[in-house]
Amino acid sequence: MATPSVPWWRDAVMYQVYLRSFRDGNGDGVGDLRGARAGLPYLATLGVDGLWLSPCFPSPQHDHGYDVADYCAVDPLFGELDDVDRLLADAHALGLKVILDVVPNHCSTEHPRFREAVLAGPGSVARERFHFADGHGADGELPPNNWRAMFGGPAWTRIQEADGRPGQWYLHMFTPHQPDWNWRNPEVANHFDDVLRFWLDRGVDGFRIDVAVGLFKHPALPDSPDPAADEEARDAVNPLAWNQPEVHQVWRRWRAICDMYTASDGRERTLVGEVAVPTPADQARYLRPDELHQAFYFDLLHTPWDASAFRQRIGAAMRDIASTGAPVTWVLNNHDQQRTVTRYSRGAVLGEKPDADRGTARARAAALLMLALPGSAYLYQGEELGLPEVTDLPPEVLTDPIVTATGEPDRGRDGCRVPLPWSGTQAPFGFSDAPPERSWLPQPGWFARYTVQRLRGDGGSCWHLYRDALQLRRSLSPLHDPGLHWLPSPPEVVAFARGGKFVCAVNFSDAQVTAPVCGKPVLSSLPCDDGKLAANSAAWWLVDNPPHACGQCPPSHETVDLTVTWKGLGD
Ligand code: NOJ
Repeated sequence: MATPSVPWWRDAVMYQVYLRSFRDGNGDGVGDLRGARAGLPYLATLGVDGLWLSPCFPSPQHDHGYDVADYCAVDPLFGELDDVDRLLADAHALGLKVILDVVPNHCSTEHPRFREAVLAGPGSVARERFHFADGHGADGELPPNNWRAMFGGPAWTRIQEADGRPGQWYLHMFTPHQPDWNWRNPEVANHFDDVLRFWLDRGVDGFRIDVAVGLFKHPALPDSPDPAADEEARDAVNPLAWNQPEVHQVWRRWRAICDMYTASDGRERTLVGEVAVPTPADQARYLRPDELHQAFYFDLLHTPWDASAFRQRIGAAMRDIASTGAPVTWVLNNHDQQRTVTRYSRGAVLGEKPDADRGTARARAAALLMLALPGSAYLYQGEELGLPEVTDLPPEVLTDPIVTATGEPDRGRDGCRVPLPWSGTQAPFGFSDAPPERSWLPQPGWFARYTVQRLRGDGGSCWHLYRDALQLRRSLSPLHDPGLHWLPSPPEVVAFARGGKFVCAVNFSDAQVTAPVCGKPVLSSLPCDDGKLAANSAAWWLVDNPPHACGQCPPSHETVDLTVTWKGLGD
């Protein structure tokens, strides 16, 4: 996608391989590295630039690999180290980049350093690597502060000391199985330098950084002003636990490591952070030229299907992130969120029944919108199939620790993690050679309508829409322009031009509207004829003249200035 002078990550479309659900290569019902490797030609045909691989490291899997027991090895559930090497070699031979998931905020209670800390006792050097503290109350029976964990419950757990008596507490911002590292201890930073080098030496193209706003906590660990709010939102809100100024030193350090590798062999590496912060301007601080290359812009993912909301969020990202010279990294789906098809099937009116066709139409339109925006985009596996969320998994099969911690099945993330349907008419739909009952989550019968095999054979399918969009995105030069210009449009339509020759328009309403551009589009999410844009649809046009010059289209009225200048944000 990128022209030679532009680093690949700036406008790459990456595909998230959620390993345990992508493809099972050894017939145990859980996706693995061998399966991922077998799926690489599929990704190359789809036309993405690379993949982000969810954690494959040794882990007791309490949070599906985000509880890491060893950062420099592979869990036998997923294969062995050689499988990563083979996957990297095959991916690179196909022209695909590979980035790994690194989890620096917390590890697993089974990590040797944490076990050592428990055994070593209060005041030991080993405990300094984590956040151990004495409890309050006469007997230390109350947690050191009122912080709540992101997945529900207190953020502190009390351990039993070696002599069997109740002892200190340790901090975990997620589940009790995920103790937070103490990044104020220099040993922790050194350890992670080694982790990065270990994988960079094996040839990875970068890292997706879990909870990149975490790592440092307020040094005094004071009470949170609003612990209930901290627990309610799944994204970071506790101002004492997240987004501390010191975290930026870490990203500078990691950037320097990546830059050293790039300088030595000319291959660009990327660091893409999970940076959930209150505003795009806050996010831009993580994207300064010597910090992270990219950060997921989650705002679109949380935006309801509404033209003015989308226009506002896109505009804010362009104004506060792109204008600093950093690319915006768009995302509509991931392994933590309800899939777009289902999310958008809801009506605007409370109590209105979800409409699956409407959800599908909107998800297709949203995909064309995202892929037309300047910057990079991350797709989540199954998104290209228009796969809906599985909303009726029986309670006994749910595995998400959020459900265990909150007792609220609706908050769980299993529904977007059901193994992918590849082929055939019955479970496991080519996902695995194992009988369907071995799949780690059951696939519903209706997955038959969404198999890769079926959709590839249907020219009007969502798969073809994504493939065509990715091909055009690569080949159309106006889409390499870093800016966008809003075009005037009715309130229910979002329309913009890029590179003077490309126009994207999205109709957010449930009724057909007049298209903002004359002529036949090069791509549309629904049939787009006679100058009409169907309800809940999007289209791309190539125009000979900038839209305002065609005589029939109104003049462009708003311009986002994207001259790439560094505004110089202070610390
Ligand atoms: C964000 C990851 O995407 C999510 O799956 C995980 O549970 C938390 N971080 C904790 O690591």
